[in-house]
Amino acid sequence: MWWQDAVIYQIYPRSFQDSDGDGIGDLPGIERRLDHLAWLGVDALWLSPIYPSPMYDMGYDVADYKGVDPLFGTLEDFDRLVAAARERGLRVVLDVVPCHTSIEHPWFTEHRDWYIWRDEPNNWLSAFGGSAWSELDGRYYLHSFYPEQPDLDWRNPEVVAAMQDALRFWVERGAAGYRVDAIDRLLKDPELRDDPPATEPFGLPVSEHEQKLALTNSRNAPDTPKALARIREAVDDHVLIGEVYLPSARWQPYLESLDAAFAFELLRSEWDAARLRAAIEACTRRPGAAWVMSNHDFGRLVSRFGAENARSAAMLLLTLPGPAFLYQGDEIGQADGPGGERVYDRAGRDRFRHPMQWDGSSSGGFTTGEPWLPPVDPERTNVEAQRDDPGSMLSLVRDLLAARRVLGDGFELLDAAPGVVAYRRGEHTIAVNATPEERPAPAAGEVVIETRPGALDGGVLAPSSAAMTIGI
Ligand code: NOJ
Repeated sequence: MWWQDAVIYQIYPRSFQDSDGDGIGDLPGIERRLDHLAWLGVDALWLSPIYPSPMYDMGYDVADYKGVDPLFGTLEDFDRLVAAARERGLRVVLDVVPCHTSIEHPWFTEHRDWYIWRDEPNNWLSAFGGSAWSELDGRYYLHSFYPEQPDLDWRNPEVVAAMQDALRFWVERGAAGYRVDAIDRLLKDPELRDDPPATEPFGLPVSEHEQKLALTNSRNAPDTPKALARIREAVDDHVLIGEVYLPSARWQPYLESLDAAFAFELLRSEWDAARLRAAIEACTRRPGAAWVMSNHDFGRLVSRFGAENARSAAMLLLTLPGPAFLYQGDEIGQADGPGGERVYDRAGRDRFRHPMQWDGSSSGGFTTGEPWLPPVDPERTNVEAQRDDPGSMLSLVRDLLAARRVLGDGFELLDAAPGVVAYRRGEHTIAVNATPEERPAPAAGEVVIETRPGALDGGVLAPSSAAMTIGI
């Protein structure tokens, strides 16, 4: 069970490393940068979708589950990447998108009955705003996300068989498992009944329109675990980490087949000690949390929590018990790009997806061509400049990755001063001061790692800082 304490590094293939000068990252580019990941000390990489796609949702609209988009390379490039990763002790986890295909997937024309149709829309909402139904040839098809992403009907056995075939294809080619997209949308009410009005909050942030509805029929049908069992059947014991947009209290039926679920309570938390603590407490009540604090949908540590807190956020992320997902660029404290507040507009999430900054050149070392999005601030923030600097964020992340290997099994949240989140992992104590003022530390002990020199001094945590200590 290699994944249990693993750190899985999220690669957004479009933005990691370009190898052919077209300004878009690709698989040979990833291969070229594997030494960075091995040096950093992560256990695996998760690739956001690499499949052929018209890219209405940047690859989360799959047009062929058993191919590689030419932008990213070829199947042979994938094989080479897996082999090169393996040589460095790294596993490759893929992203599977079972809930919907691209509108350009041949299935959508050849197998209309594999999708969900209705004569009239019901009141279900798309996650990206508006109705979840679009008209085609006088009928309406369901799309839980963009209209270019028609939902598959997982109650149709042919759909299940086709998806199982795709899942087997990649594990047979050496993938270590999958991050499974949007599982909450896998099965809906078979009668497609309206969502009733909300009577209580959903438990995680949802759009203003979604808040008014109970969201009980449009997603998370009670038999979803049966569909997940078919996914599990196809992959044997390869890892399955689920994107289940539900509070952790509702994970249990999903964990019958999944190894872990993303801890959205922490991902969606503000930088506030009481909230962070509550999220951690909820998600550690039972096993199964996969920790994530930033990604291609919600933005980077520096921009989400403030530059002054990014190092503390990294310490939290990498010392909680269970697998953790580290988003590319967060190890150097890369910031989001410019852009507005709305994240679900077509390109609204691009600002979380600017290219990785490898060096201080204007392209950040990402491409020799014109990057599809410009790097944000490569001259200030880049891997090369931070690699040999013991005080850099990169060095901190590398130290944390090494230190987490010796953290004990146990986990206990500690009582701490207001504004401080603290917990014990065996002999170690981790304490995060989430405020811009000094705070008393919850425990003494010898400092093993601190987010900045003097973060913990004389029993006092410096403003916006964190420390790991050993001993009482
Ligand atoms: C979650 C993915 O992370 C996101 O990028 C995508 O838009 C939706 N699922 C729909 O597939």
